[in-house]
Amino acid sequence: MTELSNDSSKISGVVDVIRTKRDGGRLSDAQIDWTIAAYTRGEIADEQMSALAMAILLRGMDTAEIARWTAAMIASGERLDLSGVPRPTVDKHSTGGVGDKITLPLTPLVAACGAAVPQLSGRGLGHTGGTLDKLESIPGWRAEVTNAQFVSQLRDVGAVICAAGDGLAPADRKLYALRDVTGTVEAIPLIASSIMSKKIAEGTGALVLDVKVGTGAFMSSVADARELARTMVDLGHAHGVRTVALLTDMSTPLGRAVGNAVEVTESVEVLAGGGPADVIELTLALAREMLDAAGLPDADPAAALRDGRAMDTWRAMIAAQGGDPHAPLPVAAEAELIRADRDGYVAAVDARLIGLAAWRLGAGRARKEDPVSAAAGVILHRRPGEAVRAGDPIVELRADDPARIADVAPDIVAAIGPAGAIRLADQPPSAPDLVLERID
Ligand code: URA
Repeated sequence: MTELSNDSSKISGVVDVIRTKRDGGRLSDAQIDWTIAAYTRGEIADEQMSALAMAILLRGMDTAEIARWTAAMIASGERLDLSGVPRPTVDKHSTGGVGDKITLPLTPLVAACGAAVPQLSGRGLGHTGGTLDKLESIPGWRAEVTNAQFVSQLRDVGAVICAAGDGLAPADRKLYALRDVTGTVEAIPLIASSIMSKKIAEGTGALVLDVKVGTGAFMSSVADARELARTMVDLGHAHGVRTVALLTDMSTPLGRAVGNAVEVTESVEVLAGGGPADVIELTLALAREMLDAAGLPDADPAAALRDGRAMDTWRAMIAAQGGDPHAPLPVAAEAELIRADRDGYVAAVDARLIGLAAWRLGAGRARKEDPVSAAAGVILHRRPGEAVRAGDPIVELRADDPARIADVAPDIVAAIGPAGAIRLADQPPSAPDLVLERID
């Protein structure tokens, strides 16, 4: 389709595109290129793009359409050039989960093993936390770096976690904000193209995807998660990025800490050789995949955690962005322990319940311009599989404002019981698998 010359013909152009998809047809390459470019320039109205996003959600897109849509979103902005970085580059993307702090220990760990990790991250919206919000609880740390700083830090330290600049896939920036308020986030073609356009534009040579499945994730069924993973892996390969996906369980929070500063503390415990078993397991599983994809299959990430190399890289990475890795982190003014009312075992702790609780305590935001509390969050004193006695604490709520704790505590108390979202049982549950599938 050639670009149309006057306003009324532009409108009939986009209406044709909407009608084609509404009626279950496929969009041509020219229609896709024109739609993304015109929307980025502000020539397609938000209400028209909303209608198209809803038609895509309801009708889907075939593989070729998704590939072209992704390419058009990449072409809407700049593509970073990491050819000046002397190490192989590899990144990780998680589709988002509760207590998912894995990027924090993983990025310096993989860098300590010889790769360079260009990690462009986001802030949290809704009940899953954002990596940048977590790191911003470290005094002095800055999320914004210039492209030149990004490349030089990758060269010198091997690890950068920072905010994506405005120039990267601007079409996605506009479209994601629109999807968020029009009930169209959940379309697999739109999720896959959104994530992959940013990762491909960032210039990484290899990518490992952590696709979460369960109550705390976008995708609650393995079948949907598998389809999303397959779509993203194929998009990566089509753009010359070595891409692998792990499907991982998000029915219960990762680790014991959910929030911002509390997740940094837990990540530093992992870097110091301790920390919760599930966080260590997933960090090492993803590190092995990343090192393999980067062409460093003989690297030993477990040794780099044990001998302090990963911690050294963490400190260098934080300091390079103005942070003080030794500074005390903010502590919440208020805390309340919620206790078990009987003996038994914790059979389940629902990820969504805990994610929403942390969000309501102030750790997350409802609108993207809201501030977050660095100190608020939830600590799980008992995780699934652990024994508990009547009177033992199960969940700790932390907030700056006591009214928030008073608001959340009754819901947590009500959730504890034999049939609740925090389920207590007489027998320990069988241990679920953390890594469910691998797709390459
Ligand atoms: N994360 C993204 O970047 N895009 C989506 O569409 C969903 C999650």
